[in-house]
Amino acid sequence: MHRRSFITMAASALAFLGGGARAATPAKMTVYKDPNCGCCHAWSQAMAAAGFSLDARNTDDLSAIKTQLGVPAHLQGCHTAIVEEYYIEGHVPLEAVERLLQERPPVRGLAVPGMPSGSLGMGDDPQASYDVYAIPSGTEAPYVFKEVRPRKG
Ligand code: CU
Ligand code: CU
Repeated sequence: MHRRSFITMAASALAFLGGGARAATPAKMTVYKDPNCGCCHAWSQAMAAAGFSLDARNTDDLSAIKTQLGVPAHLQGCHTAIVEEYYIEGHVPLEAVERLLQERPPVRGLAVPGMPSGSLGMGDDPQASYDVYAIPSGTEAPYVFKEVRPRKG
């Protein structure tokens, strides 16, 4: 009896750990960021709060990381993250990261170029307006993956 209830508990604990709505959320995200950049920190904190296990690495040479990953120059933002096989460049909103990991399109990564005001880590303002780009694995041009537009109040 005792043993049986232990097994039941263990099984439900496993189901809790492995399942549910957050099943697509991976454990690990590596963020390369500028140690002196507040918005990099804010974005990283938001990812950690969303459940990612964050490995934040401060670096003075972010452009070397971007070059290595092949992030197109015109789509570069500030920090660069890696989650599973994708890179996440700049202030990409959480919903876009989650959709990427659910849909798993054949892309190298997502990017929010520049630092749009109101984006995640830049105020997270519901009135923000900017585009999230996806960069295909092949030779195709980047496309708009998500249009972030002011949320109706
Ligand atoms: Cu920034
Ligand atoms: Cu940043």
